Amino acid sequence: MTMGLRSRFFAATYDRQMRSTERAGLADMRKGLLANATGDVLEIGGGTGGNLGYYGPAVGSLVVTEPEVAMVKRLQAHVREQRPGTTVLRAPAEDLPFEDDSFDTVVSTLVLCGVDDQPRSLREIRRVLRPTGKFLFLEHVRSEDPKLAKHQDKMNWLNRAVVCCNCNRPTVHGMASAGFELDSLEHTDLPKSPKFVRPMVIGVAHVPSTAPRANGADVATGANGA
Ligand SMILES: C[S@@+](CC[C@H](N)C(=O)[O-])C[C@H]1O[C@@H](n2cnc3c(N)ncnc32)[C@H](O)[C@@H]1O
Repeated sequence: MTMGLRSRFFAATYDRQMRSTERAGLADMRKGLLANATGDVLEIGGGTGGNLGYYGPAVGSLVVTEPEVAMVKRLQAHVREQRPGTTVLRAPAEDLPFEDDSFDTVVSTLVLCGVDDQPRSLREIRRVLRPTGKFLFLEHVRSEDPKLAKHQDKMNWLNRAVVCCNCNRPTVHGMASAGFELDSLEHTDLPKSPKFVRPMVIGVAHVPSTAPRANGADVATGANGA
């Protein structure tokens, strides 16, 4: 299957593929996480719009980015039905079309497993977050159990072929390397899914005010360290 055909197939079947997982608990996990979203919110890799119904009144504006055309079409249809006024933009997480410090909250659910360049995507999230901003994530990740992690490595080719993502990324370590500090972290399981995609994390992170900014500027002085 070509990449184009595969991504069209993925988009066309995504909601159906996820239905029993959502009902078995993923929908409640989304709801719990997104209760933390406030102010100007950016969601990356929004897919078909699975989170749209869970944003509450504390959200002032909502922008959802998504790189795949076939997903964007479905996302736009769901925005019209569920949350008119949401801005939808076609963009990858590696190259977000926003100024530095644009958002109070950035949301990523089941995305960092599939981006082409995770360190670059995390740097971009950090760049567009305001200094007081929060990063809300729900991601399936590499298991902390070495035996299961090895099984994930073995099965990753299948996961890549079927759902276009890597099930074995140490995403929480990636966040720490990108300068994020955790406010909360829950290790849980993606319901109704094969063992090798089950390990999941849900949490909230921020960038400490003492950390150098993602663009090289120093927070305390505002000076650019380039
Ligand atoms: C498993 S789906 C998750 C969709 C949605 N976030 C959700 O929670 O249902 C992964 C999404 O990430 C998108 N994606 C793939 N590569 C990406 C990238 N480089 N930047 C941002 N999103 C990407 C895919 O097109 C897809 O919509």
